[in-house]
Amino acid sequence: MESASGVLLFILVCGPIPLVWGLKLLVSRSSSPLARFAGAILALGGGAVTGLVAWLIHELTTSSFSKGRVLRLQGRARVARRALGQGWTDDAVPDLSGLSAWQRTVLGEAWLYSAGMEHASVPAFSKLSLKLSALGAPSALLEDCHLAALDEVRHARRCFAMARAYSGMPWTAGTLPALAQAASQPLPTGTENDWARLVRGSLLDGCLSEGLASRVAEEGASRATDPVVRETLLVIAEDEGRHAELGWDVLDFALERGGRSARDALRQALSELDSRQAPAMPPIPGVDEAFLARNGLLPQAELGRLMRLCIEATRARAEALLAPSPSEHRLSFQQHPV
Ligand SMILES: [Fe+2]
Ligand SMILES: [Fe+2]
Repeated sequence: MESASGVLLFILVCGPIPLVWGLKLLVSRSSSPLARFAGAILALGGGAVTGLVAWLIHELTTSSFSKGRVLRLQGRARVARRALGQGWTDDAVPDLSGLSAWQRTVLGEAWLYSAGMEHASVPAFSKLSLKLSALGAPSALLEDCHLAALDEVRHARRCFAMARAYSGMPWTAGTLPALAQAASQPLPTGTENDWARLVRGSLLDGCLSEGLASRVAEEGASRATDPVVRETLLVIAEDEGRHAELGWDVLDFALERGGRSARDALRQALSELDSRQAPAMPPIPGVDEAFLARNGLLPQAELGRLMRLCIEATRARAEALLAPSPSEHRLSFQQHPV
């Protein structure tokens, strides 16, 4: 609890408290010119720290430096609201020694962002399971889908635990109102469009995004110095690698059952691969890349390199699926003799 009060105290004492106090001194009629001057200094300093914390929260919650299976609702990636309470944590405690209050704030926000994404992956797999059921998928696919959702529950619990330890705030998952609205949407019935959507989602959100999440976590683990961070990232890397394979299995299923429209959709999705942006971690004042890497967060250049590698590997494997089989080659030769 020492670290909890430390981080909270740092934010309050350096941010909102001097801001309010300074504004009070500035507007009070009984303030002397010297008190007004002190008020201006306090308001400026407090405003700067409050703004910096607000900026950090905004940057980290709108960036994408770590991804897995994205929860897409009405075409947008969604996560649950932030909330304080119990229900989403485990007993992991990272090493907090030597970290300043600001460094703990940064790491807390980074893990809270990951926790939100991991938590959103749980309903994302539930949605996938419903779609697969509606399309008559084999039991192995549904089993892997539900096992992946359980993996994501563990990931989310761990990430919330890390966020809570660093920030000292009892963060947990809040409500996800967009999910309730999406529940009334119809399930696929096997139209060409349904197969095309399944193909696109599997390639981009499964094969690519989960494959990238695995590589990013693996590389982050290799640079992290805290054993708890390392172990967390290694588990996530292994699980996300399995989820990427599930994406490939779903793609196989869609290509087998969806026929020509599924293959056309795969060609279309392949053309979108290059437009996928490298995950972004904004530069944050007061913490350098070496500090972030020691804590399992990769520099921007490394994230870009891994994204390029994953795009190339995904493209090569998907193009192989589109290549005609030897029997199709023979058929085509017989139909068009030279
Ligand atoms: Fe995950
Ligand atoms: Fe995943």
